[in-house]
Amino acid sequence: MPWFGLGVYKVQEGEEALQSVKAAIKAGYRSIDTAALYQNEESVGQAIRESGVPREELFITTKVWNTDQRNDSVLEAFEISLKKLGLDYVDLYLVHWPVKEKYKQTWKVLEKLYKEGRIRAIGVSNFKIHQLEDLMSVAEVKPMVNQVELHPLLAQPELRNYCKKQGIQIEAWAPLGQGRMLEHPVINEIASKYNTSTAQVILRWDLQNEIVTIPKSVKESRIIENADIFDFALSAEDIEKINALNENKRFGADPDNFTF
Ligand SMILES: NC(=O)c1ccc[n+]([C@@H]2O[C@H](COP(=O)([O-])OP(=O)(O)OC[C@H]3O[C@@H](n4cnc5c(N)ncnc54)[C@H](OP(=O)(O)O)[C@@H]3O)[C@@H](O)[C@H]2O)c1
Repeated sequence: MPWFGLGVYKVQEGEEALQSVKAAIKAGYRSIDTAALYQNEESVGQAIRESGVPREELFITTKVWNTDQRNDSVLEAFEISLKKLGLDYVDLYLVHWPVKEKYKQTWKVLEKLYKEGRIRAIGVSNFKIHQLEDLMSVAEVKPMVNQVELHPLLAQPELRNYCKKQGIQIEAWAPLGQGRMLEHPVINEIASKYNTSTAQVILRWDLQNEIVTIPKSVKESRIIENADIFDFALSAEDIEKINALNENKRFGADPDNFTF
C-alpha cells in the first residue's frame, strides 16, 4: 500500500473529480481514496482509465456506507461501487464506520469478497480499540487497515500503538485537519525552518510516524505541493514538538457516538 495518496471527500462528481484525480496521477500519486458516500466513484474510474497508468500500478480504496450495513445490502453496495469505478477489483475496501450491531456481519461479506479475490485488502475506518477487539473476536481475516481521523491535534497515540502491535496499518483521514491545521503557529515555524509549506510538514510528520496519509485537494498546485515530501526529513526534535500538540481534539464525529 502506498504511504501517500489523494483523498476525494467532497470532490464533485464530474470535471472536478476527473481533473483532480488526473492531476494527481500525473504528479505521481498512485493511491486514490474514495467512498460510495462521496458520490464520485464514476469520475474517479474515468480518471483512472484516462490517466494512461496501468490499473495494476494503482491502489484504489473505496468504502461501504452505513445505510448499506443497516439494510444488509453490503454485497450489492460493493457491486455498485465496482461498476461505478469500472474496475474488476479494488485494492482496499473499508467498513466506513463501526455501525453497532452490524459491522461484524458486514465484515463477513468483506471476508468472502477478499477470499474470492475481488478485494485485495480489507479494512475498517473509524474503529476505536474496543471496536477492533470486538470485530477481531469473530474475524477470520484480521482488518489490514484502520483509517481514522488523525492530525497533530488528534494524534491517536494509543490507537496507533495498538494497531502497530496487531499489524493493522494506520491511515490518517483529514491529515490537514480539513485545512484547519494550516495556520498553526508551531507548525508554521517548523515549516519556515525547512523552507517548506505547513501542509508539507504535517504530511512529512505522518510519513515519519509510519502513518499512511491521503490529503485532499482539488487544486493542481496543492496536489503537487502535498506530494513533494520525499526529499526532506524532520528532525527528531521537531517530530517531538509536533507530537506535543496533541489535544485529542476531533473535528469529525466520535466513532462511539455518531448519528449518520
Ligand atoms: N473514513 C472517513 O470517515 C473519512 C472522513 C473524512 C475524510 N476521509 C478521507 O480522507 C481524505 C482527506 O481528508 P479531508 O479531505 O477531510 O481533509 P484534509 O485532507 O485534511 O484537508 C483538505 C482541505 O485542505 C485544503 N488543502 C489541501 N492541501 C492544501 C495545501 N497544500 N495548502 C492549503 N490548503 C490545502 C483543501 O482545499 P482545496 O481542495 O481547495 O485545495 C481542503 O479544504 C478525504 O478526502 C477522504 O478521502 C475519510
